[in-house]
Amino acid sequence: MTAKPSVLKELPADLIRDRLPRHVAVIMDGNGRWAKRRGLPRIMGHRRGVDALKDILRCCDDWGIQALTAYAFSTENWGRPLEEVDFLMTLFERVLRQELQEMIKEGVRIRFAGNLKMLPASLQAEIERAMEETRNNQGIQFTVATNYGGRQEILHACRAIATQVQQGKLQPDEIDETLFEQHLYTQGLCDPDLLIRSSGEMRVSNFLLWQMAYSEIYVTDTLWPDFDRTELHRALCAYQQRDRRFGKV
Ligand code: FPP
Repeated sequence: MTAKPSVLKELPADLIRDRLPRHVAVIMDGNGRWAKRRGLPRIMGHRRGVDALKDILRCCDDWGIQALTAYAFSTENWGRPLEEVDFLMTLFERVLRQELQEMIKEGVRIRFAGNLKMLPASLQAEIERAMEETRNNQGIQFTVATNYGGRQEILHACRAIATQVQQGKLQPDEIDETLFEQHLYTQGLCDPDLLIRSSGEMRVSNFLLWQMAYSEIYVTDTLWPDFDRTELHRALCAYQQRDRRFGKV
């Protein structure tokens, strides 16, 4: 990961280490608008979006956040113009290839969440390699939701469980939350404590529907390519002001 100048490397003094979210999820919205405002093609916004993501990943790691999940491509994003979809697929592949060694060095564990079988074969191969080569790393768990849809993920889990019931390997009353979670793409990962959405939209957009049952939501008007450590700091301060009751009093 080629670093932007590293400001705020240490945890800012006004953040309480014990009250940091363990897992932050981000909806990186606003790349297109960022580019449009500058008279640039939308793809330039995605390029700058990658730089922002790299800096946020490094920052989460620096500040002791254990997991970051980024929504890179939804099951609905196939409906975008073909050239934008092609650009994004090529971008994911190139970024993975370029950044893998650095991620290994920094101890990042990368995984992809989504229906990966529909992605170009060369991207699938790069994903497989990245997951395999970082599997035993001990640093931040970085999950990239790619061809991901929350409803589709839940259906995928239901089908897998139904098959086990049909085969007589499982009784319906053995299906509980723990078992269900074992069939999600995020299996083994704690639920996000904080969801950050950039560019002002107040929507969840089919992201981590099961996992976000009790996540705190923070929305900023800042467009994703401009989302930096200062913005993350702001989001974490807001999170630390929240009173998380999980349905209790
Ligand atoms: C949403 O902005 C952004 C995306 C659909 C793509 C996000 C992808 C990246 C930042 C690249 C990540 C790369 C890796 C390897 C993880 P938008 O295009 O919907 O913006 P708009 O709402 O302003 O049009």
